[in-house]
Amino acid sequence: MTSPSTPSVIAIDGPTASGKGTVASLVAGALGFHYLDSGALYRLVALASENQGVNLDNEPALGVLAAKMAVSFSDGKVFLEGEDVSEAIRTENMGVRASKLAVYPQVRRSLMDLQRSFRMAPGLVADGRDMASVIFPDAQLKVFLTASVTARAERRYKQLIAKGISVKMENLLQDLQERDVRDSKRGSAPLLVAQGARVLETSELSIDQAVKRILDWYQSASC
Ligand code: CDP
Repeated sequence: MTSPSTPSVIAIDGPTASGKGTVASLVAGALGFHYLDSGALYRLVALASENQGVNLDNEPALGVLAAKMAVSFSDGKVFLEGEDVSEAIRTENMGVRASKLAVYPQVRRSLMDLQRSFRMAPGLVADGRDMASVIFPDAQLKVFLTASVTARAERRYKQLIAKGISVKMENLLQDLQERDVRDSKRGSAPLLVAQGARVLETSELSIDQAVKRILDWYQSASC
């Protein structure tokens, strides 16, 4: 149990392209809570390591880089060493690179305190892999948001096309499937439904319906 002075946390996880980022930030907005996009931190390590020429197989160097990189979030934008990298971290390439370096325990440990520092009043919605199991095991509400791989590929496709990025559906589908396998099989913080988490299957739900369901769950959890 958390003490009354500890701000509430809603932890939201799910497979890649499940819509968890969109849903989590809308839930945070509806409650006036802070929002932690933990995936952005792994993407920042991916970008910073690429910029600095740090190899993906060099776990110690990636761990040091993750502990030292200067990141800040402001007005929905992400800054690395003072530079706005909001767009640069969103490419598929950075997503794949992030998922490869996220298997390293040294990288995960380096990001731990930074992630916990986001827990501030009146509360936090934290989105990402080990939010419910490792970073905020005492979260008031844990949600595992999922959807079929086809539904997720379609959503990601629309998102990328809307941004003017051209992709092939079959490549996207294959990429998602490979990422699911890598994320589920890894030894460190694998993708799984955390103990006590509620599963929300969203293939047939709109974003608003998913948000409403989580707000209802949170209301009943905090009664
Ligand atoms: O949802 P998607 O995988 O597209 O992207 P993301 O949430 O931005 O995270 C990028 C990658 O970082 C994920 O695929 C995970 O492998 C990794 N990650 C992680 O290991 N732990 C977290 N708390 C968040 C992201």
